[in-house]
Amino acid sequence: MHNTNNSYFSNSLLHWYDSNSRDLPWRKTNDLYKIWISEVMLQQTRVDTVVPYYLRWVEKYNSIKSVAKADDLKLLKLWEGLGYYSRCRNFHKACKIIINDYGGAIPSDYQKFRLLPGVGDYTASAVFSIGLKQTYAATDVNVIRVMARVLRIKNITKRNKKRINNTLIKWMDRERPGDINQALMDLANKICRVDHAQCSTCPIDEICMANKMSVPESYPARVKKKVIPHKEIVAGIIWRREKFLITKRTENALLGGLWELPGGEIVSSETPIGSLRRQIKKEWDIDINIKKKVGYVKHAYSHFKITLTLYQCQTQGSVKSVDKGYRWITPIEINDFPFPKSNHKLFKLLNSSGWNV
Ligand code: ADE
Repeated sequence: MHNTNNSYFSNSLLHWYDSNSRDLPWRKTNDLYKIWISEVMLQQTRVDTVVPYYLRWVEKYNSIKSVAKADDLKLLKLWEGLGYYSRCRNFHKACKIIINDYGGAIPSDYQKFRLLPGVGDYTASAVFSIGLKQTYAATDVNVIRVMARVLRIKNITKRNKKRINNTLIKWMDRERPGDINQALMDLANKICRVDHAQCSTCPIDEICMANKMSVPESYPARVKKKVIPHKEIVAGIIWRREKFLITKRTENALLGGLWELPGGEIVSSETPIGSLRRQIKKEWDIDINIKKKVGYVKHAYSHFKITLTLYQCQTQGSVKSVDKGYRWITPIEINDFPFPKSNHKLFKLLNSSGWNV
């Protein structure tokens, strides 16, 4: 191995990055707020997916203050389709805290920033290295893969993660820590791929220990995927004259704060229709007349998959007003509320079958 690993690592990586970096909108700003929202959006989400969301967001909200003042519903609408909605709610909370407790300035102390809602070590390290040029390693799964290969680490244990972090801190260029982190992300994306490590074009091949092995891709060892459970969900488009019912999901649940067509999981002893009738009565105290099946859609979340079956329904008898988040809306008004992707799939079905038949 090189005895000057740190200078070789940083110099080669930065030299490569200077002519191979991806042209991404959040790399054209020094605004800590914009760098932060980009990193929040990039958690668990692909770069290509994030770009249009990022651009729309910063055009509409150009400062912490503008986010703090915004309505939660409006922010979620802008986030609609990006998934992991607690990121949006937490970012909103964090902006309010910054306005109320920090006089509007993002704390430049790592520990204070790290304590804001939704900010983990990854986000804090990315924001502080990219935005403030502080020496932190932003080790997401992709950077961990690259470094596990460089160091020939088989298992990503807590101890090995620490070793990767310490090594990166030691080797990292002190002037350009953010670029080192982002160079590693780009290297992971373009060269050091999961299934195909293109070592012959890698700028740091000389110090990479996996590169010396016959199958560099076998580092780190793959973690067996868990079997993902499947849930059967039933929902109704419940009409009362020309309007139908939508309901708001509780704040802290999965997809919290989003709106949906009411329904829920079918338990094993039930038929879909029986289940829908039971759940609408129990949750909303509404008796329904189920007219026909519209169809079904499938959707995959990170930890489970669903099949969502939709029925055309009408209210039966009088509807008492209930003290919960719900609205009666016309189809055009779906544009005013944030819905999960699965519900947009249902709306697509309704667009072809007719909304109210
Ligand atoms: N993934 C997370 N942060 C990123 C960044 N700054 N550039 C590219 N991909 C990323």
